[in-house]
Amino acid sequence: MSAPTPLIAGNWKMNGLSASLDEARTIAEGAKGVAGRVAICPPAILTYQMSQLLKGAGVLVGGQDAHWEDFGAFTGDISAQMLADAGASLVILGHSERRAGYHETDEVVAKKTLAALRAGLEPIVCVGESLEERKAGRALEVVTGQVRGSLPAELAGKPFAVAYEPVWAIGTGLTPSTPEIEEVHRAVRTTLLDLFGDHGAAVPILYGGSVKPSNAEEILHAAEVGGALVGGASLKAADFLGIVKAL
Ligand code: 13P
Repeated sequence: MSAPTPLIAGNWKMNGLSASLDEARTIAEGAKGVAGRVAICPPAILTYQMSQLLKGAGVLVGGQDAHWEDFGAFTGDISAQMLADAGASLVILGHSERRAGYHETDEVVAKKTLAALRAGLEPIVCVGESLEERKAGRALEVVTGQVRGSLPAELAGKPFAVAYEPVWAIGTGLTPSTPEIEEVHRAVRTTLLDLFGDHGAAVPILYGGSVKPSNAEEILHAAEVGGALVGGASLKAADFLGIVKAL
């Protein structure tokens, strides 16, 4: 089984207006020829415009969340079908900001993952421990438990990615040491192999949490790191390209 193709995805979170599409254009121009896949996950309302803008440019567009149902009476929600219809090909699911702020459990994330598959979207399923859990020596247990609980068996043979994002590293400027990242990524890989057999070897395991141009090279070349999920540093083309070019 060949090594996973690396993926670098920018998660714009609740940032960006239509004027920010210029940034996406610059990212697409600068990312030509890089050694992996590049994606931008803008706020959902920009999905269609960004997909149109980036058509054929080699940069994928993704959602940041999706409902577990395809359609229905869920005021304010957006389904995976809608994201796909607007041109997305990926979707981030189970981000810690959703797990913490909207009470998303592993079961909810697994249901959302099934919805993404029905819509033909590639899910990027996020996992990660809190600082308290790390301090208590429970990081591996928490993360592998989230992997088992959030990834439905139906993912077998389908393209998907896992993103390891320690909650305490998100937006803080703090990152785990490289051996700490490798320890968690190896545990995720072992769990993926257990769940999906050989296919588990082809799943990219992204690292996320305060990735920036100055630490990207070391993180991206750590064992079992198959790319990055980037928040703050994906908002400015120069910073994001500094990370993408470290592949
Ligand atoms: P930062 O890169 O801003 O730490 O955010 C990481 C993240 O949450 C990506 O999903």
